[in-house]
Amino acid sequence: MDALTAITERVSVAQLTGPGPTQEQVELLYKAAFRAPDHAWMRPWRYLTVRGQGLLALGEVFAAAGLKKAPDLDEVKIAKLKKMPQRAPLMIIAIANIQKDAKVPEVEQRLAVGAGIQNIVTAAYAMGLGAIWRTGEMAYNPDVKASLGLQDNEEILGFIYLGHVNCKLKQPPELAIADFVQDWPVL
Ligand SMILES: Cc1cc2nc3c(=O)[nH]c(=O)nc-3n(C[C@H](O)[C@H](O)[C@H](O)COP(=O)(O)O)c2cc1C
Repeated sequence: MDALTAITERVSVAQLTGPGPTQEQVELLYKAAFRAPDHAWMRPWRYLTVRGQGLLALGEVFAAAGLKKAPDLDEVKIAKLKKMPQRAPLMIIAIANIQKDAKVPEVEQRLAVGAGIQNIVTAAYAMGLGAIWRTGEMAYNPDVKASLGLQDNEEILGFIYLGHVNCKLKQPPELAIADFVQDWPVL
């Protein structure tokens, strides 16, 4: 698939199944991530690849964090947290490694990581894989961050679920350029 087709037609895929991306595909996804625009080449990113037993372990981390936050959490919600990472055969956790007081503002560092995530989901689409960028409360939970070994200056910006497409691809409505774009100055 050519680049413009992937960029203009990509959709997220929530229903994913195995097999997961091959090692070669995973490496291409990271190669794409590393070409994100990045002010001063700070490389403010770090990624964790989670698959197999790791997804089960991550489910336990989610459940423990959920229970710590709300000790009266019911069984259904605990089970849901445990199963969350198993929505796909592979997950990439995108982490922003924020340098405070750097010449490059923090927002720009986060944006660089976000651009890397966008490159990952678009590259996945171009390879015929399905992907979806998720966050949710687990991304911001301090116990989850500690269990994953994040430092104080690190943030989870995305849980990227990846696998093979297990549904019909959605067809998003085409947005009218005039609804979002104006010439400036207005004549
Ligand atoms: C920072 C960020 C966080 C997101 N978190 C979630 C999430 O937790 N759950 C979810 O269903 N979609 C989440 N989304 C949206 C999906 O990734 C996706 O963009 C959305 O479902 C629209 O589908 P589309 O990409 O095919 O247009 C998030 C998107 C961004 C940019």
